[in-house]
Amino acid sequence: MAVATAAALLAALGGALWLAARRLAGPRVPSLRGGGDPGLMNGKTVLITGANSGLGRATAAELLRLGARVIMGCRDRERAEEAAGQLRRELREAAGAGELVVRELDLASLRSEEPRLDVLINNAGIFQCPYTKTEDGFEMQFGVNHLGHFLLTNLLLGLLKNSAPSRIVVVSSKLYKYGDINFEDLNSEQSYNKSFCYSRSKLANILFTRELARRLEGTNVTVNVLHPGIVRTNLGRHIHIPLLVKPLFNLVSWAFFKTPVEGAQTSIYLASSPEVEGVSGRYFGDCKEEELLPKAMDESVARKLWDISEVMVGILK
Ligand SMILES: NC(=O)c1ccc[n+]([C@@H]2O[C@H](COP(=O)([O-])OP(=O)(O)OC[C@H]3O[C@@H](n4cnc5c(N)ncnc54)[C@H](OP(=O)(O)O)[C@@H]3O)[C@@H](O)[C@H]2O)c1
Ligand SMILES: *[C@@H]1O[C@H](CO)[C@@H](O)[C@H](O)[C@H]1NC(C)=O
Ligand SMILES: *[C@@H]1O[C@H](CO)[C@@H](O)[C@H](O)[C@H]1NC(C)=O
Repeated sequence: MAVATAAALLAALGGALWLAARRLAGPRVPSLRGGGDPGLMNGKTVLITGANSGLGRATAAELLRLGARVIMGCRDRERAEEAAGQLRRELREAAGAGELVVRELDLASLRSEEPRLDVLINNAGIFQCPYTKTEDGFEMQFGVNHLGHFLLTNLLLGLLKNSAPSRIVVVSSKLYKYGDINFEDLNSEQSYNKSFCYSRSKLANILFTRELARRLEGTNVTVNVLHPGIVRTNLGRHIHIPLLVKPLFNLVSWAFFKTPVEGAQTSIYLASSPEVEGVSGRYFGDCKEEELLPKAMDESVARKLWDISEVMVGILK
């Protein structure tokens, strides 16, 4: 018995050491490719949704470092002010850092307004929550990840056009592959599958990007979409991991997942790099263009989704 226990402990320790070695051997991203020269974003205003946590927070920090005026669009003022305070302390030493502004913005309730804007980063997201509806009666993941950003972007389009050349960056996920736009039950009232609904919302992010890029041709406003990889953030808050498995999960995620700074590189790149000036309607991972499955490039589905989204959020002109 004691021998078995000792063997199990040793195996666990060996595993932990191997994971630690892997972690320390280097990041999964060859380099932090997204960043640019200091001052690159001087005079630019960037609005980031969900900027108090995870990828949004890391994106905000780097764009501030590059000199941007960053508006953190957050739904909870207290959490946002806390994150903003930390960011300001972290950046105190960084010469030339931009200004950080907090603004309330709840994508589950459809209201907002903003001043001049050079970059909009649609980053906020919710993952595999139990079945709930937004204030406006939409399935939560579709409502927040797609419809909230659909409305926000449309409300800000005039401003983005007036600030051209300007950019829109949409954070999707590789999990879009498992989604479908089932027009007959967009609110999942007939049945709810939380992984399907997440994937559907992330597919909607891509179709939205492509349709918007088409509509924005000739305006000098570009829109691109990305997947960040697997990143250690608060996104898994609705996933319940048994207490006993938690240490193992933490170890594995520490070893294999990207850090938020690593995960944010493609968002930072698309928001700031001169390399993607004029590029629009494309899908990126690790700061490089990637191919999409045909279902994410279907123009008729993209148009239909756009039309229905307009009706759902009530902006049909
Ligand atoms: N982490 C990954 O591995 C991964 C992989 C692929 C794609 N992504 C995508 O990356 C994006 C950022 O996620 P993350 O990983 O950084 O997760 P996170 O740490 O949970 O951050 C998500 C952010 O979205 C905000 N948010 C959630 N519901 C909202 C609502 N109703 N209105 C306004 N804001 C809301 C959260 O605000 P609160 O703090 O107030 O809740 C938080 O600021 C998401 O779009 C996600 O789908 C992440
Ligand atoms: C839920 O959706 C996922 C992804 O679309 C699929 O793989 C899974 O089989 C579905 N689960 C059920 C119970 O239908
Ligand atoms: C777009 O940018 C180009 C190059 O700066 C400029 O010549 C053109 O007038 C701009 N078009 C619009 C619609 O702003």
